[in-house]
Amino acid sequence: MTKHTGNIGAPVELVGLTKRYGDKEVVRDLNVSIESGEFVTLLGPSGSGKTTTLNLIAGFTPITSGSIFVDGTDIGRTPAYKRGLGVVFQHYALFPHQSVLENVMFPLRRRGISRKESAKLARESLALVDLGGYENRRTSELSGGQQQRVALARALVYRPPLLLMDEPLGALDKRLRDSLQVEIKRIQREVGSTCVFVTHDQEEALTMSDRIAVFQEGEVVQFDRPEVLYRRPANLFVAQFLGDSVLVPGDVQRGSFSSDLGVRGIGAPSHPDGSAFLFVRPEQVDIAPSVREAPADAVALDAAVISQTFLGSSSRVELRLADGKTPVVARLSAQDTRQWAPGERAVVWFLERETQILRS
Ligand SMILES: Nc1ncnc2c1ncn2[C@@H]1O[C@H](COP(=O)(O)OP(=O)(O)OP(=O)(O)O)[C@@H](O)[C@H]1O
Ligand SMILES: [Mg+2]
Repeated sequence: MTKHTGNIGAPVELVGLTKRYGDKEVVRDLNVSIESGEFVTLLGPSGSGKTTTLNLIAGFTPITSGSIFVDGTDIGRTPAYKRGLGVVFQHYALFPHQSVLENVMFPLRRRGISRKESAKLARESLALVDLGGYENRRTSELSGGQQQRVALARALVYRPPLLLMDEPLGALDKRLRDSLQVEIKRIQREVGSTCVFVTHDQEEALTMSDRIAVFQEGEVVQFDRPEVLYRRPANLFVAQFLGDSVLVPGDVQRGSFSSDLGVRGIGAPSHPDGSAFLFVRPEQVDIAPSVREAPADAVALDAAVISQTFLGSSSRVELRLADGKTPVVARLSAQDTRQWAPGERAVVWFLERETQILRS
């Protein structure tokens, strides 16, 4: 493809990015460095500031303070149309009465590129999203998934330094969403574009991202690789937002965590005194008939079995700890054929190094 703009995989840096509506800060002091060609997802619950952040980067919403560096240049006060970024939204914003080809040519024609050259580049971009042969269709005659591919082809046709996508798969059914996730990833890798992608679907974020910025009430509370977010969440919110967690309530005193439920003296050197949780993921939890059958160096807690569910590739056992209310979920591998009956007394155990102390 011919190169029409700057560096297609530009590094991006958000510095102290803040947006206030009245006295409400909906985006607060974001500091995020995105590497060239990286796929970064903004993930968080509804209203946490993801779309606002994307609109600040795109230039559709004026920033209150801070900077947005793309390829080393602060574009934070540049009008949207001069930023030259690729944008794809949940609703495709295509021209319904024009052909697919004309839709994709549009950004090039607006930049004054000849009709012939625009058509050539648009065809290349359509081939990239697997829509070769659809050039002459009207976009109103396409399915939702096809329309979203046209929108992607249009966003990529002038090889933007940065591609922004706000829940582009949100309006599609699950099967289509799954296959487009894989495809967007492939295209992004092939083109080498830097990408900022918004979703509130944790599975989608885990599948697609090099790194994920987790939003909580306008702030990025953790920015890390998916496996780090899953294994080492920075706080209780991140732990609960991404997957199932086991949380044993207790207390930190002088850098040491204990719980009446059977935990003594787990080191928590950087934690202030006060109530906290011992956190572990269900895959790290095992079950034994009694404490004698658990490894001597494991954290072992009395529990009672509530239920066991077979899920094909694993089984999921739900238990309650000795207080009768704290739930524990253990995920056992398919090779593990033990059966646990409701009401049965058992011991749940896990290794201290798989745990983390989280403030409540
Ligand atoms: N133009 C506006 N004026 C006032 N408040 C706004 C405006 N736009 C957004 N907000 C507020 O900013 C906050 C963040 O909104 P935003 O759209 O960024 O959330 P989001 O994370 O994208 O949520 P969702 O997952 O529902 O799309 C919300 O509380 C919202 O009500
Ligand atoms: Mg949104």
